[in-house]
Amino acid sequence: MGFGGLFKELAVFAVMVTIMATSVAAQPKPGCQSHCGNISIPYPFGTSNGCYISRDFFINCDTSFNPPKAFLSDTGLELQVLNISLDDGSLRIQYHRSVGYDCYNSSGPTSYDTSVFLHRKFSISYSRNKFTAIGCDTIAYINGFSGPDSSNITAIPRGMQAYFFNFTTLQSHSTVLRFNPCSYGFLVEDGVYTFSTSDLSNIDFNKRKYPLILDWAIGDQTCEEAKMDPKNYACKQNSACIDPESGPGYLCKCNDGFQGNPYLSNGCQDINECEALKPCNEFGICHNTLGSYYCTCPEGFEGDGRKYGTGCSPKPKAHRESFPILLVALGWYT
Ligand SMILES: *[C@@H]1O[C@H](CO)[C@@H](O)[C@H](O)[C@H]1NC(C)=O
Ligand SMILES: *[C@@H]1O[C@H](CO)[C@@H](O)[C@H](O)[C@H]1NC(C)=O
Ligand SMILES: *[C@@H]1O[C@H](CO)[C@@H](O)[C@H](O)[C@H]1NC(C)=O
Ligand SMILES: *[C@@H]1O[C@H](CO)[C@@H](O)[C@H](O)[C@H]1NC(C)=O
Ligand SMILES: *[C@@H]1O[C@H](CO)[C@@H](O)[C@H](O)[C@H]1NC(C)=O
Repeated sequence: MGFGGLFKELAVFAVMVTIMATSVAAQPKPGCQSHCGNISIPYPFGTSNGCYISRDFFINCDTSFNPPKAFLSDTGLELQVLNISLDDGSLRIQYHRSVGYDCYNSSGPTSYDTSVFLHRKFSISYSRNKFTAIGCDTIAYINGFSGPDSSNITAIPRGMQAYFFNFTTLQSHSTVLRFNPCSYGFLVEDGVYTFSTSDLSNIDFNKRKYPLILDWAIGDQTCEEAKMDPKNYACKQNSACIDPESGPGYLCKCNDGFQGNPYLSNGCQDINECEALKPCNEFGICHNTLGSYYCTCPEGFEGDGRKYGTGCSPKPKAHRESFPILLVALGWYT
């Protein structure tokens, strides 16, 4: 058998390891509902008693809608959940009255509503939302609360858990009434709203609902504090604790080389990099390990075996005598 035969053999081997990499879906707690309508509900969130980590993570799945809709509970506001992300501890929500408005006719003010948001645990992402005000002759203020303080703000502060809007006009829209009777203010996920001049005259603009990104975190301790209480520490095996920038509490993340749900016991599963990344050279042999992998070359070859490394190349034949030994070694592969 020559090298040609060996290459063919290894090529077949390479094809055999071309198995679809399976991604581990974010799971609920065992025995708990995994979806509400088409929204996946990973632990620490849950739709029934015993399925969530604490009451703030209770998702009220309202089956009177078809498909069912997921709501954050205990807020008094109908905060509909559109998506839950474990990767960065965020939630995409939308709700009624998300657009505040201040409208006028030629006699003066006609209607006004401030959009109000309030949640006792989750805050409005300061980096992924934009405060947007539209209107001519419009000055809009957003009053944000994090804890007991309220202040006029222009940028969204970290940890803001409540807000309402105030509007001011200089001339009660009198000079612009014909095309812009209202001022509007809203918070919206960055990149979702694009201004259109027709929005200025649209008196139904306040009926729109825009998505908003909230940040969530476990408890109100730092990682360091949480680790001192192992019984209640939320980050399970093969995961690490992260102190989010958004405010109090902590998040968990699977260690490198693992994927899944870090909040569940054995939720972080080893990634088979050999299948997922195919990191080894055509002739390299991939070995998956817990949390990592390595490549080797078949006998008679040298190199690091990696696709983007030195790969595998036949060892230089220094002596003629060594050739038969090489053939014996290669015979194992046939
Ligand atoms: C759920 O379904 C709605 C409408 O059917 C769609 O707009 C939305 O993107 C879906 N959400 C997810 C997370 O797939
Ligand atoms: C929902 O969140 C998941 C997890 O972060 C993400 O992969 C997915 O793209 C999101 N879906 C939508 C419609 O934003
Ligand atoms: C302006 O709005 C008020 C309150 O809605 C209404 O009573 C009044 O008739 C309106 N004036 C004009 C000129 O349309
Ligand atoms: C916000 O600023 C406006 C204008 O400067 C002021 O009238 C209003 O009282 C301020 N509101 C708060 C809550 O500080
Ligand atoms: C701002 O709005 C709040 C709530 O609607 C209201 O109570 C307050 O008087 C307003 N402040 C100003 C300065 O307009």
